[in-house]
Amino acid sequence: MRCEHLGLTNFRNYARLELDLPPGVTVLQGDNAQGKTNFLDAIHIVATTRSARSAPEREWINWLAFEDPLPYTRIVAKVRRAASVIQIEMTATLGENGNGITKRMKINGAPRRSVDVIGQVTVVLFSPLDIDLVAGSPSQRRRYLDIMNAQVDAKYLRSLQQYNRVLLQRNSLLRLVRDRQAKPDQLAYWDLQLADLGAYVVDRRRDAVEALNTLAQDIHPALTGRQEFLHVAYRPNFGGDTPEPLPSRADLPTRLLAAIQTARAREIAQGVSLVGPHRDDLQFTTDGIDTTVYGSRGQQRTAALALKLAEAQFIRERTGDSPILLLDDVMSELDSRRRRQLLSSIRPEQQVIFTATDLEDFDPSFLARATILRVKSGRIEKAH
Ligand SMILES: Nc1ncnc2c1ncn2[C@@H]1O[C@H](COP(=O)(O)OP(=O)(O)OP(=O)(O)O)[C@@H](O)[C@H]1O
Ligand SMILES: [Mg+2]
Repeated sequence: MRCEHLGLTNFRNYARLELDLPPGVTVLQGDNAQGKTNFLDAIHIVATTRSARSAPEREWINWLAFEDPLPYTRIVAKVRRAASVIQIEMTATLGENGNGITKRMKINGAPRRSVDVIGQVTVVLFSPLDIDLVAGSPSQRRRYLDIMNAQVDAKYLRSLQQYNRVLLQRNSLLRLVRDRQAKPDQLAYWDLQLADLGAYVVDRRRDAVEALNTLAQDIHPALTGRQEFLHVAYRPNFGGDTPEPLPSRADLPTRLLAAIQTARAREIAQGVSLVGPHRDDLQFTTDGIDTTVYGSRGQQRTAALALKLAEAQFIRERTGDSPILLLDDVMSELDSRRRRQLLSSIRPEQQVIFTATDLEDFDPSFLARATILRVKSGRIEKAH
């Protein structure tokens, strides 16, 4: 699929932007702090309803618009997909107390819930921050798994949201039981809910990670020149200290329920749910060594990039349409072999938007086939 047009109003340092985007490869070039990352983030937000940055959402709104009586930002994207053209619109308005924002989404002009928007347009973003996928905390890896799975499976997102609600309820009940204000047998209902919803999340995550691992087996050696072997494994949490083989899909709910019940006394003592996908992790090993713990920065970055490129293929296989690939500042981080390999891995029908401060990081023959845009203080122009 490809984004044909992007419209921004009061989005970060873009007061107003209406931009047609070409098919194939685009390179958005600009000095530091001109709006390269913001531009990619706008596409990420309209596709996933979330920013790839952890900053508060109120910062999406242009500072100058805070003078307005009703500060808001709007992102509109027109996207050509395999079978149809879709227009997605997100308007975020500053909350009355000046803190949070209210997001409203529309598809082809009709209001829609976020859950109905996610997956309509698929994106894969790779930025320098993604080294945290490998080097960072398990919660970052779970978030990654969730955004990816939500893009290819609407039921995943619904199950996850229900799971998180059940988890909150169950945790408060566990605290009541601990404080002897509720009876332990009240937990039975929540245990079942947690196991059923959790089993679906675990099953989809397992499936995705197995597919990503297989795809990364081809991509990673190409990036590194066959010097290293990357393995990505799903580490679900069934309460034990050592990873066990996962049961079949049919057995997952009962196994998860059994694990939850085994942990009962510890859970009551701590007043918190200890077993389930909210404690899952991903494990990366490079040549058999844990990349998260022992990997060099370069190894961690390459593992994260291989995973993202695998994700793009995974989404294409699952949905039948290539996601929009957003590569933020990636060239400056790679050595020349990895750059070449990355550029040669791009499929001709795929829309890819690179950002760069320096065009010299690209091969001239590659640039000759790309559209080059220049960004300066939130304005974008086609380079000549
Ligand atoms: N809400 C906002 N209103 C106005 N400007 C903002 C807002 N949020 C961020 N900015 C500004 O947007 C500018 C561009 O940020 P962005 O991260 O897109 O730069 P960049 O081109 O990716 O730079 P770099 O090369 O350093 O990564 C920054 O100077 C930042 O201060
Ligand atoms: Mg940037």
